[in-house]
Amino acid sequence: MITIKSIVDVDPTLLHSFSCGNDNLDTYLKQFASQNHKKNIGKSFVALHEGRVIGYYTLSMAHIEFSDIPEGHNRGIPKYPVPVVRIGRLAVDTQLQGKKIGSALLIDALIKILEATKTVAAFAVVVDAKNENAKKFYSSFGFIEYKDDMSLFLPMKTIKKFLS
Ligand SMILES: CC(C)(COP(=O)(O)OP(=O)(O)OC[C@H]1O[C@@H](n2cnc3c(N)ncnc32)[C@H](O)[C@@H]1OP(=O)(O)O)[C@@H](O)C(=O)NCCC(=O)NCCS
Repeated sequence: MITIKSIVDVDPTLLHSFSCGNDNLDTYLKQFASQNHKKNIGKSFVALHEGRVIGYYTLSMAHIEFSDIPEGHNRGIPKYPVPVVRIGRLAVDTQLQGKKIGSALLIDALIKILEATKTVAAFAVVVDAKNENAKKFYSSFGFIEYKDDMSLFLPMKTIKKFLS
C-alpha cells in the first residue's frame, strides 16, 4: 500500500535513495524540500511504499497574468493577476514510473488543493512541464497550454468536476 505524508513526517534518511532520472528533482527532495516546507516556500508531500520513498510533489501559491489565461477561461474574470496553485515538482522513482504512481500523487495534490480553496482562493492549478513525457502526463488529466507550450493550466472548476 502507498501512503502519502507531509515531508516533515518522513524520516529524512529515507529521502537519500530517491532517484527519478532528473537530477534537479532528486536534489530538491534531498537538500531543499524539508527546509522550504518549514519556511512556507513550498509544501512537499512524499509517497512511501514498504518503507521506501517512491515519489513526491511540491505545492506553492502563485499567480498568472490575466492576459495569459487561456481563451475561453477568462470570461467574467477581473483583469488583474489571478491567483493559482503551482505544482512546482512532481516525480516518481525511475523503477516505478508508468505504474500510475504519478497519477496517484497528482490526484492527492488536487484533492488537497480543492480543500484549500475553501479558505484561500485559487482559480486554477499550473505546472511547468519539464519535458514532453511530463507534458503528456499532465495533458492526460486535462491540463492545457497557457503562456507557452510547456506551461500548463487546469481550472479549479474542472478539478472540482473531476473529483466529484
Ligand atoms: C512524469 C511522471 C511524474 C509521471 O508519473 P508516472 O507514475 O510515470 O505516470 P502514470 O503511470 O501515472 O501515467 C499516467 C498517464 O500519463 C501519461 N504518461 C505518463 N508517462 C508517460 C510517458 N513517459 N510518455 C507518454 N505519456 C506518459 C500516460 O497518458 C499515462 O496513462 P496510461 O498509462 O494509461 O497511458 C514520472 O514519469 C516522472 O517522475 N518522470 C521523471 C521526472 C519528471 O519529469 N517529472 C515531471 C516534472 S514537470
